[in-house]
Amino acid sequence: MSQALLSVSGLSVSYGKKVAVSNASLRVEPGECVALIGTNGAGKSSLLKTISGVQAMTSGYVEFNGENRSGWDTATAVRNGLILCPEGRQIFPRMSVLDNITLGAFQRRLSKHDLHAELSKLEALFPILYERRQQEVGTLSGGEQQMVAIARALMGAPKLLLLDEPSLGLSPIMTDKLFETIRAIVNQGCSILIAEQNVYSTLKCSTRAYVVESGVVSDSYTSDEVVRDPRLLLSLLGQ
Ligand SMILES: Nc1ncnc2c1ncn2[C@@H]1O[C@H](COP(=O)(O)OP(=O)(O)OP(=O)(O)O)[C@@H](O)[C@H]1O
Ligand SMILES: [Mg+2]
Repeated sequence: MSQALLSVSGLSVSYGKKVAVSNASLRVEPGECVALIGTNGAGKSSLLKTISGVQAMTSGYVEFNGENRSGWDTATAVRNGLILCPEGRQIFPRMSVLDNITLGAFQRRLSKHDLHAELSKLEALFPILYERRQQEVGTLSGGEQQMVAIARALMGAPKLLLLDEPSLGLSPIMTDKLFETIRAIVNQGCSILIAEQNVYSTLKCSTRAYVVESGVVSDSYTSDEVVRDPRLLLSLLGQ
């Protein structure tokens, strides 16, 4: 087997006595988009936060790009290309679109010229944001704000982008646009691990999926397998 970009083994996460993730193992290969599918409170965010270093693990091992991630703080994780786009966006509503996005490159200490070049690369992916670059982010629609959060994460030059529920609260049209953008990001060579409750859209742009239920992560399925398994789908859709 080739070396995985991300390899997680035996990962557990607790908040006091509450066990949120129990003995989870998963992999993301270079260039892959992998889905974490599960209902509310299943443990998806806890997994992503722990992989990115925002949340401490109780036990387990995370290897990223051949290195043990355990000793990294979030700043080191970002510098190494392991970047979380958090649930709820966490953007700055009174700052402009451009300033929010530029913040994502903070750690890279780019020259003005290189920063400009990096921002230009995002223009094709996010034409609306380019048009509205001087506007305060708080004046944008929910979908556009989500795009700002993703654009900011991309400015950190991720090798692996951890996307936490990007479609939460978006209209169906914005959700379609969002998943189109996610596909374009993968086509540009960035690997993605995406946590979502929007099962069908996510499986359409991922190659493999893990099902998360009450803190337990399943074995790996191909996305096609999940789509074709009515029992699995029903449990995922909470019916
Ligand atoms: N800071 C915290 N303190 C205590 N319990 C927490 C904390 N964060 C999450 N939990 C609990 O851990 C479990 C997993 O939560 P988590 O947010 O990881 O799930 P999720 O799959 O991301 O859910 P959602 O789809 O609602 O975002 C839940 O039971 C939740 O209540
Ligand atoms: Mg969550």
